[in-house]
Amino acid sequence: MNILVTGGAGYIGSHTCISLLEAGYSVIVADNLCNSKIETLKRVMKITNKEIIFYKIDVTNEHDVEELFEKHSIDGIIHFAGLKAVGESQKIPLIYYYNNIVSTIILAKVCEKYGVKRFVFSSSATVYGENQVPFFENMNLMPTTNPYGESKVISERILTDVAKEIPGFSVAILRYFNPVGAHESGLIGEVPNGNPNNLMPYITQVAVGKLDKLRIFGDDYSTFDGTGIRDYIHVMDLAEGHVAALRYLKEGVQVYNLGTGKGTSVIELVRAFEEANNIKIPYEIVSRRHGDIAACYADVTKASRELGWRANRSIRSMCEDSWRFELNNK
Ligand code: NAD
Ligand code: UD1
Repeated sequence: MNILVTGGAGYIGSHTCISLLEAGYSVIVADNLCNSKIETLKRVMKITNKEIIFYKIDVTNEHDVEELFEKHSIDGIIHFAGLKAVGESQKIPLIYYYNNIVSTIILAKVCEKYGVKRFVFSSSATVYGENQVPFFENMNLMPTTNPYGESKVISERILTDVAKEIPGFSVAILRYFNPVGAHESGLIGEVPNGNPNNLMPYITQVAVGKLDKLRIFGDDYSTFDGTGIRDYIHVMDLAEGHVAALRYLKEGVQVYNLGTGKGTSVIELVRAFEEANNIKIPYEIVSRRHGDIAACYADVTKASRELGWRANRSIRSMCEDSWRFELNNK
C-alpha cells in the first residue's frame, strides 16, 4: 500500500515513516523542507534499510500535489505538513492560517479527485483549550488563543464536513499530547529551529551546555508541585499510533487522543531527566508563560479500545532517547 506522508521529513513524520516502513507500507514523502532536512530521510532509510520516494514540494501547491498523484497510485495520506510554533503563529497569523488550512483543503480536494479514501490528520491537544482534565474526544472544543491552535480546529472541521459528503472517505483525526524523545538509534529526533520553545528540547540544550539554565514558567499553578502538568508521549509510540489508526480507518471521521493518559509536572520531568542521564539541570522559576494551562492530559480509552494501541514507553526512556539524540547531533 502506498502512503503519502506530507511533512515526512519533520520530527513526528520521520519517526512515523520508520513505523510505516517496518509495517510493510511503501512511503512517499512530500515536504518543502521549510523546517527539516533531507538528511533525516536518508537516516530513516538507513535505519530501516528501505527506500522512500521523496518530493520536495509545497502541499499548498495544488498543481504540484496533483502531479504527484498522477505519477503514483496513492492509497492513503498522513498529513503532518504544517507550521507549529505557537508564538510565531501570533506574529505571522496569515502565514499560519494559509499554510495549515490550505494544505488540508488541497489534499482533501486531490483525494476526492483521485478517489483516495484514507486520510490521517495531525491535530493537537491544544484544541481542548481550558477544558477539565482528562480530555475526552467528545468534549466541546474551546478557543485556543492562538492562530496555530485555531488552524487545527478549522482543519478538523473541514475534514469532518468533507467526510460527510464523499462516500467512503475515512478520516482519523489524531490529537497529539506532548511528543518527546527520539528513535532509539539516536539517528533522528527533534531539531528545533533556533532557541527551543518546548520543554524537552530546552532541557537537552541546557544539558549539553548550549543554554545556561532552564526557566520554569510558573510554580503557582493548582497542581501538586505548582508547575504545569503535561502528558508526554514517546515519539515512537506516537508513530506506532499512526499505523494503528491507518489500519483501523473506517468511513466517516474518528477522533483519537494519542497520549499516555498520565500527567507529569515540569519539575518531575527535570528530575527524571537528571536521574536517567546523571546530569544536573540548573533552573530558575520565572513567571507563567502567556497561554499556558495548568494541566493537560488525555483520556486514552478510546484509542486503546478501538485501535488496540497504547503508549508503552516510559518517561525514563523518553529522557534517555532525547539525550542520546542531542549528544549525537550537537
Ligand atoms: P515539524 O516542523 O518537525 O514537521 C513538519 C514538516 O512539515 C516539516 O518537515 C516541514 O518542512 C513540513 N512542511 C510545513 N509546511 C509544509 C508545506 N506547506 N508543504 C510541505 N511541507 C511542509 O513538526 P512536527 O513536530 O513533526 O509536527 C508534525 C505535525 O504534528 C504538525 O502538523 C504539527 O502541528 C502537529 N503537532 C505537533 C506537535 C508537537 O509537539 N511536535 C503537537 C501536536 C501536533
Ligand atoms: C506547546 C504549545 C502547544 C503545542 C505544543 C507542541 C504553548 C502555549 N503551547 O504546548 O500549543 O501543541 O507546544 O508544540 O506554546 N515549560 C517551561 N519552560 C520552558 C518550556 C516549557 O517551564 O522553557 C513548561 C510549560 O510551561 C509547560 C510544560 O513545560 O507547563 C510543557 O511546555 P511545552 O513543551 O512548551 O508544551 P505545551 O505548553 O504543552
